[in-house]
Amino acid sequence: MKKRLFHIKSFGCQMNKLDSSLIASALRDNNWTQGERPEDCDAVIINTCSVRARAEEKALSAIGRIRHIKKTKPSLTVAVIGCMAQRMGSELLAGGIVDIVCGPAQIPQVPNLLAKTIETKTQNIATAEKIRSRPTKNQHDMLDDFERTYDSDTDNIPSQAFVRVMFGCNNMCSYCIVPYVRGPEISRPPQTIIEQIKKLAGNGVKLVTLLGQTVNSYEYKAGGKTNCLADLLEMASEVDGIEWIRFVTSYPSEKYFDRICSAMAALPKVCPYLHIPAQSGSDRILKAMNRRYSSSQYLDLLGRAREAVPNIAIAGDFIVGFPGEKDEDFNATAELLKAAEYKNCFIFKYSPRPGTEGHKQLTDDVPMEIKKRRNVELLAVQKQVSGPLSEKFLGKTVRVLVESLSKKPHLNQSENQSHPQLVSRTADDWIVVFNGPENLTGQFANIKITKTAPLTLFGQLEQ
Ligand code: SAH
Ligand code: SF4
Ligand code: F3S
Repeated sequence: MKKRLFHIKSFGCQMNKLDSSLIASALRDNNWTQGERPEDCDAVIINTCSVRARAEEKALSAIGRIRHIKKTKPSLTVAVIGCMAQRMGSELLAGGIVDIVCGPAQIPQVPNLLAKTIETKTQNIATAEKIRSRPTKNQHDMLDDFERTYDSDTDNIPSQAFVRVMFGCNNMCSYCIVPYVRGPEISRPPQTIIEQIKKLAGNGVKLVTLLGQTVNSYEYKAGGKTNCLADLLEMASEVDGIEWIRFVTSYPSEKYFDRICSAMAALPKVCPYLHIPAQSGSDRILKAMNRRYSSSQYLDLLGRAREAVPNIAIAGDFIVGFPGEKDEDFNATAELLKAAEYKNCFIFKYSPRPGTEGHKQLTDDVPMEIKKRRNVELLAVQKQVSGPLSEKFLGKTVRVLVESLSKKPHLNQSENQSHPQLVSRTADDWIVVFNGPENLTGQFANIKITKTAPLTLFGQLEQ
């Protein structure tokens, strides 16, 4: 049978990257080959994100670019999958460009949907009708099997892979679309997760990142025992070949928090890194966001994490310009950001998402100009925090896992120019740039830090 070529493009978070890797692996097993350029391919798959309007605009312009290719190549099959596919559904089929719409919970169907569309020349849609109801056992088993059967490691970042520990989210933060496109929280059985990690280790994976929208709420009851994330970390630590284990993203809640921090302290393979978004430092705004903690409770959690794991690196997310955010609310956010001493944080401008409570009940009343200004101001405050944290590395030697060739080689001032510039990360997620042989990608290396910037460390390879 003739091999067909597919091209896959992903937007959005690590969950989407993981889904794309699994789909690519499934297609390779179904007589497809991955192609670089969409115009050379038989099928183009666009994996979309809905988290902010901008994310959807990017996906829509990617579909727009495909329109041009399809004009000269009408046989091209176009699949739009992922979170925006779930949100917009059949609307996407209207323009005559898109042939397949498939939601995040239906990804195991992608190979069949492609085959059916090519064979019957029809449009096909697979999305959840009632996204907040629990998937049936059958649907869930299909997702779990898909995850278990196919590989989530890729050649893009060698020696690393994502492993989903849970689907969905139960939090319903008032601004967030994720629970409406990814459905309710469902934790996967520990045995399948560990089985999968063993398989990845067999493929040469050294770092696994456990994924969940609120990964610290992982909970699986079986045989009279309730497993939490700390139990999973312990089991994953026992897998030979795996050297580092990370998990993202954590929700600031009491449940299991101290157990997870203790596991991080006790298990050398668990990276001392916590991504735990605060979203705002104003208690009034946190309430309107339906986040279930106050700024002081949040800082108390960080304090306890630092007590348990003194070398921990903490990262956060903030939304600026949430409806009703006044200067005093923003100032409280800037204060929290300073007090939290993040290694780095991600700052987003509020974007109303249709279907969410925020969109239904609140007016997007902070002007774009102010959102932009607050965004820039918070980044500047973070830079002041990150600067001294990065300087502490000067003269020290750090162990890194090398990821790839650097995309911005001009930034490096290092002397050893006979080798290309490589990008790597420490266990606590600091980016380290150095010159070294390309075959170090996917390997561990020791780097002596010779220069620092607020978000990047520069150094030399130690032999
Ligand atoms: N489950 C994770 C990540 C959710 S999406 C968590 O709870 O932390 C990633 C980030 O996008 C969020 O942390 C939030 O800061 C941001 N975000 C989500 N919805 C948004 C919206 N409507 N507008 C702007 N930023 C948003
Ligand atoms: Fe969205 Fe909140 Fe769930 Fe994170 S915890 S995915 S921000 S609803
Ligand atoms: Fe991720 Fe975007 Fe969906 S952040 S879960 S791809 S809406």
